[in-house]
Amino acid sequence: MKRFFLKVGEYILVALLVVASTWWLGTSVLTNEVLLPPQASEQAVIIDELFGTHWWLISFFFSLIVVFMLYSIVRSAVVHGLKPDHSGFGDFFEGNTRLEVVWTIIPLGLVLWLAYTGAVSLGNVERRYAGPLEIRVIGAQWNWRFEYITESGDVIVSDVLRLAKDRPTELLLQSTDVIHSFWVPEFRVKQDALPGGEEFVRVLRITPNELGEYELLCAELCGTEHYNMRAGVVVMAETEFDAWYAAAAEEAAAGCTLSAEECGLKWATQYGCLSCHAVPTSVVPPTVGPTWVGLANSTVTLADGSTTIADASYLTKSILTPNAQIHSGYQPNIMPQNFSEILTEDQINQIVAFILSLDN
Ligand code: CUA
Repeated sequence: MKRFFLKVGEYILVALLVVASTWWLGTSVLTNEVLLPPQASEQAVIIDELFGTHWWLISFFFSLIVVFMLYSIVRSAVVHGLKPDHSGFGDFFEGNTRLEVVWTIIPLGLVLWLAYTGAVSLGNVERRYAGPLEIRVIGAQWNWRFEYITESGDVIVSDVLRLAKDRPTELLLQSTDVIHSFWVPEFRVKQDALPGGEEFVRVLRITPNELGEYELLCAELCGTEHYNMRAGVVVMAETEFDAWYAAAAEEAAAGCTLSAEECGLKWATQYGCLSCHAVPTSVVPPTVGPTWVGLANSTVTLADGSTTIADASYLTKSILTPNAQIHSGYQPNIMPQNFSEILTEDQINQIVAFILSLDN
């Protein structure tokens, strides 16, 4: 039996097919906007560069193996035919020290190089900048809240994450209940928001570098409304952001100067009440908690079968100690139990005034 190797012309053909296949795989994924959304942060540029390097290597090795294998199968069938007596088989041979050394050293070198570039990229993605914009990001079942602490110590609360283009930002992530995860695909970076208080606050650094509107998604399965735990993200020009910030800081310092009902609506929006409770303006009325529409002064049946009137005292108690009187048909422990720490007495009274104003 003779050993058979490919002819020189065949090696060139295989090499060309490998190059073509690598090129097709590489470009069809890396230029696909559905698979890879646009970049909108400096961190995204670093991550995409690393991903690109990996993807080109993957495309090359996949092509090398698959093209060579398919070519060998076709050639074997064409040249030798598929004979049932195995006489068309090539020579079997065992062991090739030189080849084994080569195919050990090359991957080892590649893996070490990938580990090095990975570590350098991670360092660059997590790099600290002096004087970052700090924003507290609070995830809760099932909404996001953003808090900016002003110089005078007031808190700007927002249900939309507003960022300034090119300004390094540190997001201080935490959760009030289960694990959530902060993910804006265009920023690429992702970080869990953990419950447990200050000790478990996690920092995510982002420097947005493209103006526009994006969407924050929760990337950790966190309950029935997980899929709907989203928030708007707006990257504004520096001057526009500063103007918004100054106005919001002034408003935070002054407190709410609107009517009690209007202030109540404002707090209910900012603190995420409306992601579980329906109001007349709900786009998609949520069903997680009892609706507020027509709730005022109605007769409510509680989980234990007793009834009560939804007046100011019932509503206040429902906000402060929700588990004390669960509305029949709803689950305990869904509503946060710590609103007495989050909201002031005035804010709670205003929310109650807002709910009572929704009388049909
Ligand atoms: Cu929060 Cu998923």
